[in-house]
Amino acid sequence: LNREIMKGRKVLVTAGGTREELDPVRYLGNYSSGRMGYAIAEAFAEAGAQVTLVSGPSDILPPFGVETVRIISAEEMYLEVMTRYAEQDIVVKAAAVADFRPAVRNEQKIKKDGESVILELVPNPDILSALGARKKHQYLVGFAAETQNVIENGLEKLKRKKADMLVVNDVTAPGAGFGTDTNIVSFLYPDGRKIDLPKMSKLDVARRLVQEIALNKGIGSKE
Ligand code: C5P
Repeated sequence: LNREIMKGRKVLVTAGGTREELDPVRYLGNYSSGRMGYAIAEAFAEAGAQVTLVSGPSDILPPFGVETVRIISAEEMYLEVMTRYAEQDIVVKAAAVADFRPAVRNEQKIKKDGESVILELVPNPDILSALGARKKHQYLVGFAAETQNVIENGLEKLKRKKADMLVVNDVTAPGAGFGTDTNIVSFLYPDGRKIDLPKMSKLDVARRLVQEIALNKGIGSKE
């Protein structure tokens, strides 16, 4: 492992799921644990990068030497990521951002009266698409947790969101996806090139990702 390979590079990583509040005691959320994103932040820090981790609620201890910014909702994540975007060299979007939020957040706890409740949901900003649209020098990496047609859906997403690379995984495969310590991923490129990795720990996936990005950016070839 080259501890200098990312030296002097600024890297922003997003991790965890977002929570979209319904009222003071309830939210819509997802099963993201933050493990993959935290491992990526750790691997970049290990490689000498200056890392900012923008994280949804997670029980995991932030890696040593990483600046951690905590957010709750997708809109908060959007703001924290966008204000830091210009200065970044690499952005890795491992967070499971909620696609929708409740149209209204009740100030008081919603009461039950035996009747059904209809929830209206409105779309959240797509952070990765916004980054893709405003991309200058940044290298942009997205994640895609798919349950079917993993590669086709991944390629479509990669192009639509203008990412430089997509890490795709089938979240239904044993040993992959949410809450596990291991993952089974492929790296996908806009030209259709694909690298399949075997099942490995999330930290090893993260280290491979750092090496792969260094290679693609032509970093560290002479170091
Ligand atoms: O949810 P989806 O499969 O579209 O996510 C693909 C990529 O887009 C992920 O990297 C995710 O973090 C990002 N994303 C985002 N903002 C959203 C939804 C997804 O940045 N609102």
